[in-house]
Amino acid sequence: MNSARIRIPLLDLRAQYHNIKPEIDQAIAGVLESSQFVLGAEVAAFENEFAAYCATEGCIALNSGTSAIHLALLAAGVGPDDEVITVPFTFVASVAAVLYTGARPVLVDVEPRSFTMDPAALEAAITPRTKAILPVHLYGQSADMDPILEVARRHRLVVIEDAAQAHGAKYKGLPAGSIGDMACFSFYPGKNLGAYGEGGAVTTSNSKHERTIRMLRDWGQDRKYHHALRGFNYRMEGLQGAILRVKLRHLEAWTNARRAVTAQYNELLRDAEVTTPQEMPWARHVYHAYTVRSRDRDALQAALQAEGIQTGIHYPLPVHLQPAYADLGYGRGDFPQAEEAAAQVLSLPVYPELPSESVQEVAVAVKKFSSRTVHAPV
Ligand SMILES: Cc1ncc(COP(=O)(O)O)c(C=O)c1O
Repeated sequence: MNSARIRIPLLDLRAQYHNIKPEIDQAIAGVLESSQFVLGAEVAAFENEFAAYCATEGCIALNSGTSAIHLALLAAGVGPDDEVITVPFTFVASVAAVLYTGARPVLVDVEPRSFTMDPAALEAAITPRTKAILPVHLYGQSADMDPILEVARRHRLVVIEDAAQAHGAKYKGLPAGSIGDMACFSFYPGKNLGAYGEGGAVTTSNSKHERTIRMLRDWGQDRKYHHALRGFNYRMEGLQGAILRVKLRHLEAWTNARRAVTAQYNELLRDAEVTTPQEMPWARHVYHAYTVRSRDRDALQAALQAEGIQTGIHYPLPVHLQPAYADLGYGRGDFPQAEEAAAQVLSLPVYPELPSESVQEVAVAVKKFSSRTVHAPV
């Protein structure tokens, strides 16, 4: 593969930092002065602000999105002998966190236009052991939550949103994070709301779950050195809380900028031989990723790379085909939509600061590739 110098990166965290440098530098200096390096006032303030943003009563700040899923599941009472239903077309953490609790992940296929949990496949996966459903709002678009909630209500199951990629996304007007019983966010640096290191949170309006998660993140303490639960060290750092507070103030503007970039892509790629992402009727998509489908994905990626355009594949292998998860008992052919998506998806550069000329260049390169080869549209 030709490895030309990257001219247009998939994302550019440095550009974002430079746009907000004075605010960030001041926030960092404030934490150094207060020396509240773990939890503390900035983290507490961020929790309040992020809960308000998600329209929930509570938010518990943690050290990663994976920890968020782990603790939400524990708060829901999930443990060994239980089953949790999620999807194979996700980042591996969604499934790994289920295994941390000792429960068994049960997978259902995705719906091919939204890449999110297919509600029609859900009912058949429920057994007497099912305890929770973990739909993933992949790429920044909410799963179709109403039919999922309806099934959950009938079977008395807990619904936990994996909103790791969906800060600011909406489902029928409701913010991601406020739809299920609990929701899990990641603040990994490249996320739409990203820390300068690891970070995560659970949002919930259930005060009992909130209290349990607060204890579990800090060694299960209900007061200092009194351990009511067997907990973890999953606390958010003070610096991350302060940085996230600054960035949260910009999130809506950044989301609008992402949506402007993706609207431009949609327009320019209308007659290209790729399938552009579909914003579902229920969704406000926040385009954590702008992911097209191509039957000739690997060649398209190589052609773009040769022009200095960086792309990503999210994700090349569904979780059920990953060697580490072979013992879940699934095999090739079990989830045809997930498998087909994994073979076809390609994420193009998208970030709020991406110049319109770069969007144009990427689109021209995609179309040049399309006209060079004869493919049927996917
Ligand atoms: C869908 C999904 N779930 C969970 C996670 C885990 O988050 P983290 O990397 O913060 O642990 C991520 C992000 O990496 C993700 O994309």
